[in-house]
Amino acid sequence: MPPDTPIGIHDLAFRTTSLALTHSELARHTGANIAKYHQGIGQYAMSIPAADEDIVTMAAEACTAVLERHGSERLRTLILATETGVDQAKAAGVYVHSLLGLPPQIRVVELKQACYGATAALQFAAALVRQAPDEHVLVVASDIARYDLNSPGEATQGAAAAALLIGAHPAVAALDRISGLHTHDVMDFWRPTYRTTALVDGRKSLDAYLEALEGAWLDHQKRGGLPLQSLHTVCYHQPFTRMANKAHRHLLRLAPTSTRAPDSTALAATTHYNRTVGNSYTASLYLALASLLDHTAGLDDADVGLFSYGSGCVAEFLTARITPGYQQHLRTEEHSAALSARRRVGYDEYRQLHDQSLPTDGSTLHIPGASRNAYRLAGIDAHRRIYCRTVQPTIAPA
Ligand code: CAA
Repeated sequence: MPPDTPIGIHDLAFRTTSLALTHSELARHTGANIAKYHQGIGQYAMSIPAADEDIVTMAAEACTAVLERHGSERLRTLILATETGVDQAKAAGVYVHSLLGLPPQIRVVELKQACYGATAALQFAAALVRQAPDEHVLVVASDIARYDLNSPGEATQGAAAAALLIGAHPAVAALDRISGLHTHDVMDFWRPTYRTTALVDGRKSLDAYLEALEGAWLDHQKRGGLPLQSLHTVCYHQPFTRMANKAHRHLLRLAPTSTRAPDSTALAATTHYNRTVGNSYTASLYLALASLLDHTAGLDDADVGLFSYGSGCVAEFLTARITPGYQQHLRTEEHSAALSARRRVGYDEYRQLHDQSLPTDGSTLHIPGASRNAYRLAGIDAHRRIYCRTVQPTIAPA
């Protein structure tokens, strides 16, 4: 393969849960001024999983969309990135592989590093494609952000899965080979294996995010990455959408004073989905990219920055060049339909779902059908998760 063959995102689809809680409803119970949610953190609603939805069902939804369009003939690898793992040994992607009826000749693995995992998966996928340019790699980022009730993090929950098909000559965006990295050991946000909700030091997490942005950006520039003024905009990891504004202000302070800043309308275009989905952890950056593409015409050949931050922490700054004709390959209507299909829940139902737990003693649980989506967690039997399909798939056979 010629060394300059473009490799990158051939398709991008996201899906979310069946339910949503608005921040107006949350504010009625927390007593917060709604302006704190709408203006202060830039959030309007958050996706809430129904009792029979989890990262596997969301991932299967997102992957189905991609495979219905492209088939599975060229697929040899499926990487599921998550920090909401359902098993400490078995990769959640194996359940997805089974639900999708994929052929056995596929390697499946799970990756974790907080919200950064999907970007590592993207880079590993690009390296696999460089090695075997006829193959596709399916990367799926799937997460549920859950914090304790009445904690500061509660307003920044959410859930979504983003599936990215990685291949040579991509229809949507080609990845630049230069990227900037930053890793340091910090306890800003973490979730010990015995907990279902994350622990977070809010203030420290904001500082760690900005410090990691600085480190990754400076490394990117040192390695000859594109300067800020060449970028149409930057898609940031968005734990809440106002974080993108904070990050962008910080990045501008690091750029030479002569730098013409990317315009703020472009930054706003990256936030449409995350403001009503909430934090989807490792999927969040790719919802920001989908939002930009779905809401912006004329990006042919534009360079876009991508900043990926995973608490703990690992960060990467990379850029992607949008492929001419990308608009013919988007899923704008599907994305909007996935969001508007969610049923709004009241605070009591949200609270009940938040408190729900699955058996840990080997007992059997049948979960009544609640999801409006095509895949559901039907129950737990002798420590086994039982998934099922509620709608027959139309994926092209291998
Ligand atoms: N009108 C307008 N704005 C208001 C307001 C009002 N009435 N009341 C408050 N605000 C503003 C505040 O001024 C503040 O804005 P600035 O930061 O620009 O000053 C904003 O609303 C939030 O207010 P507080 O800081 O008082 O909010 P808080 O203490 O409740 O916590 C938080 C905010 C720390 C983000 C908390 O939601 C949290 O801990 N979230 C989880 C952690 C997180 O998302 N960290 C982000 C970086 S880590 C990361 O990115 C990884 C990841 O995904 C978790």
